[in-house]
Amino acid sequence: MRIGLLTSGGDAPGMNPVIRAVVRYAEREGNEVIGIRRGYRGLIEGDFVKLASRDVGGILGKGGTILLSSREERFKKLEYREIAYRNLREKEIDALIVLGGEGTLEGARIIAEEMGMPVIGIPCTIDNDVGGTEYCIGYDTAVRNAVEAVDRIRDTASSHERIFIVEVMGRNRGFIALEVGLATGAELILIPEEKFPRDKIPEEIEKAKSMGKLHFIIVLAEGYGKAHELEKYLLEKIGEKYGEIRSTVLGHIQRGGSPTHYDRMMGTKFGIVAYESLIAGERSGYVAYEKGKFYIEDFERAREYKPIDREAYRINMRLAI
Ligand code: F6P
Repeated sequence: MRIGLLTSGGDAPGMNPVIRAVVRYAEREGNEVIGIRRGYRGLIEGDFVKLASRDVGGILGKGGTILLSSREERFKKLEYREIAYRNLREKEIDALIVLGGEGTLEGARIIAEEMGMPVIGIPCTIDNDVGGTEYCIGYDTAVRNAVEAVDRIRDTASSHERIFIVEVMGRNRGFIALEVGLATGAELILIPEEKFPRDKIPEEIEKAKSMGKLHFIIVLAEGYGKAHELEKYLLEKIGEKYGEIRSTVLGHIQRGGSPTHYDRMMGTKFGIVAYESLIAGERSGYVAYEKGKFYIEDFERAREYKPIDREAYRINMRLAI
């Protein structure tokens, strides 16, 4: 069997361990893996490269994706997908494994449906927002990166008795912010799923400062709002009577760096499950992880709303005293 492998959308730390696992498992069993560079762009442009075991040596601890990635808008148009399908046929690809977030998995669903080619997706996004799976590759590393950053910021926040707003990624969801906030003991977590009213924030700051807290750290999900706007709002409302106000946007620092042991291990397992399910005859779906088990889920479920851990949010509110 000749398996095409691509990574698409925002890179996620842990994609390389997936690539390594798929290539090595396939090679051991006499199957071939063809890497498609830059995601769906490479499908359209016919940028295919054969991958052997030695090509994936030393990548387990590397962030990003050796296959490169892109957000390719052209793939939404049938005329370009037809070019991609022609390329796949010409290169005699029998099946595809596709790594990425919700948008990428939607592309995978369309290929499976339109082309009838077996396609297995693997949820890889730091946002952890793909429906039907507890875990998406890259999330643990992004949380680790952001926790380290907030810990450092706290040193300055305490030394200068400041109010800090730290904006984290997550697209329109608050998974990263919630875990980062909990793990760093943030005084306030602002996420789109819990509509903490903006006009109540000054009260929270006043309460904390009157209790003797040196600093006040707000972990803000980008889906709730922009850090500099909140900084401006707070300056207008309370000025700097409770301490100087600063804001920081962590940005892509969160997405890079060596994957954590968890993302290496989960990336390896997700990759093996994808490969083995293809060999076992699965034709369409993505690898999902729920309650300690891996299985293949229908592509449609990737779009489902994934609930946030509201209890964790409440726990943080109770602890931030
Ligand atoms: O989906 C991953 C993600 O990092 C989001 O958290 C963020 O909103 C977005 O991608 C940023 O995209 P880009 O790297 O294209 O600026």
